[in-house]
Amino acid sequence: MITIVGAGKVGVSAAVQIAVKELDDITLIDVIPGRAEGEALDLGHMASILGLSIDIRGSNDYKDMAGSDLVIVTAGFPRKADMTREDLLRKNAEIIKAVGEAIKEYAPNAIVMLTTNPLDIMAYGLWKVTGFEPRRVIGFAGVLDGGRLAYYIAKELGVSPASVQPCVIGQHGKAMIVVPRLTFVGGKPLTELVDEATVKKLKELTVDAGRKIIELRGWSSNHAPGAGLAVMAESIKKDQKKVFYSSVYLDGQYGVKDVFIGVPAVLGKNGVERILELPLNEEELKEFQESAAAIRRGVDELLKML
Ligand code: APR
Repeated sequence: MITIVGAGKVGVSAAVQIAVKELDDITLIDVIPGRAEGEALDLGHMASILGLSIDIRGSNDYKDMAGSDLVIVTAGFPRKADMTREDLLRKNAEIIKAVGEAIKEYAPNAIVMLTTNPLDIMAYGLWKVTGFEPRRVIGFAGVLDGGRLAYYIAKELGVSPASVQPCVIGQHGKAMIVVPRLTFVGGKPLTELVDEATVKKLKELTVDAGRKIIELRGWSSNHAPGAGLAVMAESIKKDQKKVFYSSVYLDGQYGVKDVFIGVPAVLGKNGVERILELPLNEEELKEFQESAAAIRRGVDELLKML
């Protein structure tokens, strides 16, 4: 069974995509009474129309995640205009604590993925609260940022996004590190396909994509994260061992220790099966390590709140 904690926009989008793939039965859990149950009912009707062979149930009680081998945490507050960075951290820290403790109690063998922001910091927090082996906690980040980069490159070059191999590492969010030198189309690095000004434009479009969506429609992205979560869940459930840029625990790789940060990782039935070390040049490595240091400062703040 797959449990999705947080039946908000991202959680429900993930449920739709996971249902369509028939990966497993789904339990949606939310703190707001009726929300998860209502969504599950609607999704159940969707599954009926599509002829999907899975059950979808909704609950207001963490206990109902019992028996899950995969828990996807999409519970969290997006930042509001009147909220400081610290307010957001505090609010989401409370959520991570409650959800992490529930996972530890009711789904002690599960692999956990999360989208709660600030992502890399919250991944560390969830890992700490559960006490799980680091390989069983995975932050959802690079698939979204990379998916957006591939989209803009594909539009620019007139190729399919499926033929673009984007490379986006480091902190999730505005401080993400796009690496054009290690972004490939048909084996050619982006830096050899377009001029410097175009590389800059593509980077900016990618970094700005999340903000742009909010500006246009008033709320943050959910379809793309839902899709990303579903393909990652598929790799874990079917032990496909596909490579996804994810926020994972580093223990010396890239010269970084004790931080969750975005890098390419092989995902399979054990969670993070392997972490790949990219051939970063000196400048890229420096930027990555600074990104890790920034996350670490956030983690130190978070740990005081847990
Ligand atoms: N346990 C379960 N559900 C919770 C909890 C909790 N402790 N706290 C909040 N929730 C639920 C809310 O009731 C809401 O239904 O999480 C849901 C969040 O949904 P949305 O507000 O629609 O937010 P969404 O856009 O889905 O984003 C969720 O992912 O991308 C990140 O920054 C984003 O942290 C945010 C998270």
